Amino acid sequence: MVKATVIGAAGGIGQPLSLLLKQNTLITDLALYDVVNSPGVAADISHINTPSVVKGYLPPDGGLEKALKGADIVVIPAGVPRKPGMTRDDLFNINASIVRDIAVGIAAHAPKAFVLVISNPVNSTVPICAEVLKKKGVYDPKRLFGVTTLDVVRASTFVAEAAGQPTDSLKFKIPVIGGHSGVTIVPLLSQTSPSVSLDQSTVESLTNRIQFGGDEVVKAKDGAGSATLSMAFAGARFASAVLEAASGKGSSQPEYAYVDLTSESGGKEVASAIGASPAYFSVPVTLGPNGVEKIHGLGKVNDYEQGLIKKAVEDLDGNISKGVSFVESSK
Ligand code: NAD
Ligand code: LMR
Repeated sequence: MVKATVIGAAGGIGQPLSLLLKQNTLITDLALYDVVNSPGVAADISHINTPSVVKGYLPPDGGLEKALKGADIVVIPAGVPRKPGMTRDDLFNINASIVRDIAVGIAAHAPKAFVLVISNPVNSTVPICAEVLKKKGVYDPKRLFGVTTLDVVRASTFVAEAAGQPTDSLKFKIPVIGGHSGVTIVPLLSQTSPSVSLDQSTVESLTNRIQFGGDEVVKAKDGAGSATLSMAFAGARFASAVLEAASGKGSSQPEYAYVDLTSESGGKEVASAIGASPAYFSVPVTLGPNGVEKIHGLGKVNDYEQGLIKKAVEDLDGNISKGVSFVESSK
């Protein structure tokens, strides 16, 4: 029996993500929580003839508690998205308190759940979640993930295009490390597998496109939000990887996620490779029954990529401290 809870289930990401999770046959209970419209989304999705039983919850009458109670995995796409001209950090003022309050609920009702944070700014909302769980004495760093899968998904699509093989995007694997905003997103194109020959100017334009792929969608949506469908795909893919690993059928292929580098011994090596800080970084991880089982090293990184990492770390330090201070100053 596996219960999955989506918080923010009626939103642009929440609806297609819930639809994709309904197709995951490992899930037996699918709880859809939102401050609006979740009963309607749940009624609709519940007619699909896959194994999970779907229920929708709203805030009144302990809806959050009921949605979270006994959850094995909680996926959080709750909060506001960007509009053109905004950075992800501009979402902090609204989304920080939304994520903090959800984390309080998780601490009380699903303290052992795997927690997958999608809400931006991920660089700060993951530390917010961690600090709340620490305060409540239930923090398990192996079980908390900032979802950065969309960066990895974009990287393989964009590299396949640049390599003139757009229909082969699935075969291109590119490590994308760091954080999830602008220059904190660091694609390691020199490690593209299978290898592709790219001149430096193509490497730089591809790097920029991967770092600012989210802005491409924000601009195209022209005020109607940010990536939702590709994010739902990426979020469902990562949630499946977590659940498959939890069921003992994990893949040997690493996943990338923004995690606490202290969660596993390999994190120390990554921390020293990137300059001993910051505390959270998107890294290749092997997942197991208890979440992060192994943090892999970053492999051979060239001088250009070292420069990108340096810039990422500078920004990330500030993003992380901002999240930590927010919880410290919260009542
Ligand atoms: P949206 O506005 O379409 O949906 C957000 C949903 O959250 C809404 O249904 C809203 O009612 C709900 N919500 C608000 N406060 C809530 C609360 N306290 N509890 C439960 N639900 C609540 O936005 P969206 O496009 O789905 O984006 C959601 C978030 O995901 C944004 O912060 C966005 O920046 C982020 N995002 C992250 C990534 C990533 O790669 N990690 C990718 C895309 C978007
Ligand atoms: C993305 O990468 O698409 C998301 O983080 C949403 C955004 O604000 O760009």
